[in-house]
Amino acid sequence: MVRRIVAWLGGVVLVVGQAAWAAQPEFKPNYDESKVPAYELPDPLVTRDGRPVADARTWREVRRPEILELFRTHVYGRAPGRPAKLTFDVFDLDRAVELFPATATRPAGIAHVTRKQVTIRLTGQADGPSIDLLMYLPNLGRPVPVFLLLNFAGNHAVCTDPGIRLSRSWMRSSYPGVVDNRATEASRGSAASRFPLDQILARGYGVVTAYYGDIDPDFDDGFKNGVHGAFDRPDAPRPPDAWGSIAAWAWGLSRAMDYLETDPDVDSRRVAVLGHSRLGKTALWAGAQDERFAMVISNNSGCGGAALSRRCFGETVTRINQHFPHWFCENFKRYNDRESELPVDQHMLIALIAPRPVYVASAEEDRWADPKGEFLSARHADPVYRLLGTDGMAVSDMPELGQPVMSTIGYHIRPGKHDLALYDWQRYVDFADKHLGKR
Ligand code: GCU
Repeated sequence: MVRRIVAWLGGVVLVVGQAAWAAQPEFKPNYDESKVPAYELPDPLVTRDGRPVADARTWREVRRPEILELFRTHVYGRAPGRPAKLTFDVFDLDRAVELFPATATRPAGIAHVTRKQVTIRLTGQADGPSIDLLMYLPNLGRPVPVFLLLNFAGNHAVCTDPGIRLSRSWMRSSYPGVVDNRATEASRGSAASRFPLDQILARGYGVVTAYYGDIDPDFDDGFKNGVHGAFDRPDAPRPPDAWGSIAAWAWGLSRAMDYLETDPDVDSRRVAVLGHSRLGKTALWAGAQDERFAMVISNNSGCGGAALSRRCFGETVTRINQHFPHWFCENFKRYNDRESELPVDQHMLIALIAPRPVYVASAEEDRWADPKGEFLSARHADPVYRLLGTDGMAVSDMPELGQPVMSTIGYHIRPGKHDLALYDWQRYVDFADKHLGKR
């Protein structure tokens, strides 16, 4: 009898729950600057107990750890450390790949480039979760600085080089050539426009990339697959600050760095971590936590990335949590429609990267990501950068289209849509030349 009542009650809750869901009003993003609510940002240079942070040491020892902890607890969740049994298997090394068509203007050193592929086994076991790294390095002397970035469609989508291992991981079926959630030969090179390898390599930088779905497939499965399944305790309830997918992808970038530190071809003190969109959010969180990344670049990262949450312009905390319930930690949902109660905002994420160079980039038509909010969080990280002895951000007003700011906090907004475009890459290489130092 009791069981039947419980079952009946459960049914009622389900019906009410579904009705509530169905009744949810359609989300209408605000794109009107005059409707941005008045807000006050938490001060990165005042501790939780109200003490001003007036010197680098207090920042380093008190405030920085405090802010990191706030982001772990309230936004991205807490990831494990480096696994005890991490192994690296370099399964491909070719020092004479002809990647680019022979032209008279092709710079020396990239007529042939080096391709290397490495499997990072996260539990040390052949059948455990693993990440495949794809690396292209210019043959311009060693070691080389690199850009490290996750990709959306598999390493084989980066260019048509048949030597790239075709990903066997789960993949979104809407991607070119993907059949039954698996890549096929037809998927090769489908994301090439986001990887202008010739331009990057010719300027002396390597590119290191991995498919983000190797780390955690990007759908909500209750954290069963990917690294969550491998590293979480299966028997214990998930704590509200357990790592979401963004934290998992960021953790994967740190594992890539673990490998790069062992590779004599790479200058691991000059690794710029970069990401577009959800992977821009990821790059920022990776760079904030892992100080081995010498430079951090956010391309159109938007809500939960560089954009200030309190502006509620374009995508909001509520909307991102509803559509992507697996991206952040459970605690972040407490701030749906209550952004002003967040103990942090995204300028503090940028501040965590200080004094290392950071570049935030927006696109004019990418209003969903709130270009102005992206600029403002970079701008509001300036006091921390200055406290740590850098030039911070050189401008106080948002620059015009195509007018990049190249101070230690860099920024640009370019015409066009949400994308990782050639213009963006050219500015990142300029920024790296300036701040990572030329060979
Ligand atoms: C969606 C999402 C954004 C995200 C983007 C992407 O638009 O709302 O937050 O940045 O996807 O990753 O492409």
